Amino acid sequence: SSSTPTVSCPETLQALQAASHELVENLQPVAFPTETVYGLGALALDVSAASRIFSTKGRPADNPLIVHVSSLPMLHTLLPKDYAISTAYAALMKHFWPGALTLLFPSDPNIIPAIITANQPTVAIRMPSHPVARALIAVANAPLAAPSANSSGKPSPTRAEHVRRDLDGKVGIILDGGACGVGVESTVVDGLHADGSIRVLRPGGITVEEIERVLREEMRALGSIPKVLVHRRDYRDATIEAAPTTPGMKYRHYSPAVPVYLLYTTSPPPDGVQRLDAGSFLASMRGTGDGEQPVKVGIMTPSDSALGTCSLPTDRIEWTRFPLGSIAEPSVTAHLLFDGLLTLERHGVDIILIEEVQEEREGLAVMNRVKKAAGECRWIQFNNSG
Ligand code: TXA
Ligand code: MG
Repeated sequence: SSSTPTVSCPETLQALQAASHELVENLQPVAFPTETVYGLGALALDVSAASRIFSTKGRPADNPLIVHVSSLPMLHTLLPKDYAISTAYAALMKHFWPGALTLLFPSDPNIIPAIITANQPTVAIRMPSHPVARALIAVANAPLAAPSANSSGKPSPTRAEHVRRDLDGKVGIILDGGACGVGVESTVVDGLHADGSIRVLRPGGITVEEIERVLREEMRALGSIPKVLVHRRDYRDATIEAAPTTPGMKYRHYSPAVPVYLLYTTSPPPDGVQRLDAGSFLASMRGTGDGEQPVKVGIMTPSDSALGTCSLPTDRIEWTRFPLGSIAEPSVTAHLLFDGLLTLERHGVDIILIEEVQEEREGLAVMNRVKKAAGECRWIQFNNSG
């Protein structure tokens, strides 16, 4: 049985053509939806177009960009002539492309401009699955470099409205594709090491568990299953940590205009984390108000956690809850995380508190973003007993 596809929406086609014109003829960046977060795209192979991404975002020049393709033939135009894709990469691409997985490839400086790679020997490439992203790249008929469509250091946008508030007047066209499904950025993977390991530089929309499962299934027959190593969890790399090549290592990241506190409530927090009971923590927050006005506190917790279900003391504190889905569904937490930070900021809260989630499945990416948003001085062990 076959069904006839209906193609309507002349508006969508017109919008894609206008966006493509802006990219290809005017060499200006365009904001567009992907399944992870909104991207700020420009022609990857044109130095002046790519440089406008950096100026629009206020992005440091030493932070490399991901190149987005809409097809495998387009991927191959970007790779060195003699390069053969490894079996591990082939397995990952088969299962996760198009989708929220970015892979590092060797970069030929005669193909990829140095502004994209920040002069590194590798280039990060992904094939997004969002139909608008795919269509835009295909209509422009060129690979697009695209970081998240936010001012450098801010939470990534997951709705067109987030982009508009942040980059209004700085970008000519914002394509609105509704809310992004995944809600956190792609997983960045480096499988180019001589030891055959698959190194996760940035946890993201594709989980480490899924990557491990696919490599096990696809590579068992070949006799060797690559190890999956997560940077900072399974290994550390001083060179990476000194450079910006691991997303968010060097620069402030994911931070709204107000301070964010990460509350450890169930797992043992890392060494050096402040321990506070709820009473003294709330007292310290009241002290941040001007005495007359209540302190406005935004609180992001799973809807079924102890903190998510308790009644909050209202003496000189005005709470706004932003539920993050249930504990059992970390993909929902990931979907809501940046929206929560940006919505609470917009709501005018003075402080945002986020409860920890387990660092499993999408929870690993969530905690990676939350730790960066809070900065290490705002991790607190929060005992609700006080
Ligand atoms: O989901 C995503 O990946 C989104 C959407 C728009 O596709 N894009 C995104 O881009 O998150 P951006 O620029 O915000 O984050 C990409 C990160 C950079 O922070 C950079 O450090 C890392 O990927 N990266 C890019 N090229 C790299 C390379 N050659 N080696 C190591 N890391 C690289
Ligand atoms: Mg970003």
